[in-house]
Amino acid sequence: MKNITIAIDGFSSTGKSTVAKQIAKHLGYVYVDSGAMYRAVTFYAMQHGFIDKNHFDVEGLVASLKAITISFKFNKDVGFAEVYLNGTNIEKDIRTLEVSSFVSKVAEISEVRQKLVEQQQQLGKNGGVVMDGRDIGTVVFPDAELKLFMTASAETRAERRYAELIERGETVSYEAVLKNVQERDYIDSNREDSPLTKAKDAIQIDNSNMSLQEQFDKILQLVKMTLKNTI
Ligand code: CDP
Repeated sequence: MKNITIAIDGFSSTGKSTVAKQIAKHLGYVYVDSGAMYRAVTFYAMQHGFIDKNHFDVEGLVASLKAITISFKFNKDVGFAEVYLNGTNIEKDIRTLEVSSFVSKVAEISEVRQKLVEQQQQLGKNGGVVMDGRDIGTVVFPDAELKLFMTASAETRAERRYAELIERGETVSYEAVLKNVQERDYIDSNREDSPLTKAKDAIQIDNSNMSLQEQFDKILQLVKMTLKNTI
């Protein structure tokens, strides 16, 4: 059977990565979290003083892109590939609300996108990949056999993300998480380079009222149909 490419795009905290991991595991495919790569560059920018609440040295960051190496290594204890920045595991460091508060500004920069898109295309060049993000079906893999576009209300998404952050031990308020979700929605959808938009041939799924099991079942059914129609 052919190894297809599955592109999952959508707004922040729509549960893309949860279902992408489940589908990849079920099919024995590689899962690539493209958002983790933008978060890794953001984390680097924070560590090196290129970005904080009051300033953003875009030129400095762009000049340093050569020094940034992002890689993934499968961790069998968690069942997915964790992200590394220049050889250091930063999987936990990149999921904070602070990184979330800067990442969309970093993801607007074309030089950053160019570097990461190239690596994403390399990672998926042999098919058999599930990749989630904002521009996977539109820019990274415009020929993907299956494209999904996930949505849910901003409030539902903020509730999910708030629960995740609290579970990880972060001290955050629901209001701050909702504000971040709405700000990122706005920046991601309105940037000039590769804005978040549904590809013409993507299937839209609103999972506001779906359980994880219902979402998985629905998407697996779409995958099976796609596999049947792919020679
Ligand atoms: O998990 P969550 O929905 O919070 O977002 P993410 O997938 O970790 O992505 C974090 C941010 O990276 C997004 O808000 C976008 O600004 C950016 N991103 C992007 O521009 N293009 C992608 N393919 C993936 C993420």
